[in-house]
Amino acid sequence: MGVVKKRETFSSGLAVFFATLGSAVGLGNIWKFPYLTGQNGGGAFLLVYFCCILFVGLPIMLSEFYIGRKTRKNAVGALEELKPGTPWKNIGIMGVASSYLIMFFYSCVAGWVYYYLFKAISGDFVNVTMETAKTQFGDVIMGPLSPILWQFIVIAVVAGILTMGVKKGIEKITKTLMPLLFILIIICDIRALTLPGAAEGIQFLFHVDFGQLSAAAILAALGLAFFKLSLGMGTMMTYSSYFTEENNMFSMAVKVALSDTLVSMLAGLAIFPTVFSFGMEPTAGPGLLFMTIPLVFSQMPFGNLLLIAFFFLTAIAATTAMLSLVEVPVAYLSEEKGMSRKGAAILTAVIMFIVGILATLSVDKTSMLGHITFFGLGFFDLFDYISSNVFMPLGGLLIALLMGYSIKREDVVAELSNHGKLKIAGLVNVYFLLIRYVTPVLLIVVFLNAIGILKM
Ligand code: PFF
Repeated sequence: MGVVKKRETFSSGLAVFFATLGSAVGLGNIWKFPYLTGQNGGGAFLLVYFCCILFVGLPIMLSEFYIGRKTRKNAVGALEELKPGTPWKNIGIMGVASSYLIMFFYSCVAGWVYYYLFKAISGDFVNVTMETAKTQFGDVIMGPLSPILWQFIVIAVVAGILTMGVKKGIEKITKTLMPLLFILIIICDIRALTLPGAAEGIQFLFHVDFGQLSAAAILAALGLAFFKLSLGMGTMMTYSSYFTEENNMFSMAVKVALSDTLVSMLAGLAIFPTVFSFGMEPTAGPGLLFMTIPLVFSQMPFGNLLLIAFFFLTAIAATTAMLSLVEVPVAYLSEEKGMSRKGAAILTAVIMFIVGILATLSVDKTSMLGHITFFGLGFFDLFDYISSNVFMPLGGLLIALLMGYSIKREDVVAELSNHGKLKIAGLVNVYFLLIRYVTPVLLIVVFLNAIGILKM
């Protein structure tokens, strides 16, 4: 009828901030950050991670904001509009693939969180000890039916939110619950830091020993930075396509990266003192969070209530992160392939569930499908490894090359300064210095180093 439908945007600057933070803050902070830091030796890994956020994460986030808000399209459509008829749109296609890969294992871990919430409500963690905490985690992941059921529940919740169009409501909830999660983690910290032997955990987290740092650890820190900030795969492009014209994207990127890193650090400060206080291994892997948090709250006044609150808020954080993950294919399928948003959400949920089961049944070697491996990795680890350590950094590298060498500087200045309204000349110079020379070089060096071509 010739009526151009106005594309929806977030309602205000604050809504943008919380939605973007809702994508960044999730299982990455509470589950992945602590266990990777534990597996890769602590302080030195942390330092490399901070550098990755600063020199790679921030410039890429800003680049994605530029691409999304300028074109107001899904990841594939945005790149096609910026560079019509060129292969650059493959960055978006790779992004859609990454978001599926992440969903497959993320929905599994989110299922454990929902299950733990249910168990906490049922009082299963009252009087928990180190031994029972370990056995309970083993029972949860081995199932085999219960983890699949909880994964299904997570996916149904995410699909329900998307298809019922209650997303705006969820944004409101996030705005109130995110600060609550923050406060609760600080309570965990106070408890953990006053446990006997807590100092050893602090020492582990902050003592920098570069002798511990392998090429694989550096790649893991880089991959974690991408995963944490939801970068290199179109999520931030898609979200920024809903930003308002008034958003200051520089300050948004810095605020999101800082807040996200703060949440991760606070989670680390709750987990490592507990690990050392109870004589556990920091290298325990994906079970680290699930084995320590019940211990943090045990023998504490209102411990079970706080434990319920903790898993409830973690479940919310995981769910909002998943909503942003699913938004990449949903926006793509509905805008480029003519599907309805509802149909796209349901299709994505079905694929996520079917393939996600493979991840859930291969969490470790003793799992039902744990014997099936590719390059030594089972499905769960494979989906995680390919997305975080290959596709996302590769997407990031291509975005840096596109922005640094193929987009006109005036266009970038105009968009980032909100068409001259913001005075950001100095910041733009720093941005271009990073995106042209520092970010791509670092990415290439880490890649080459990881495949053993270049010895650092
Ligand atoms: N950033 C999320 C987390 O740290 O839990 C994970 C994530 C969400 C990655 C959305 C990618 C994404 F598109």
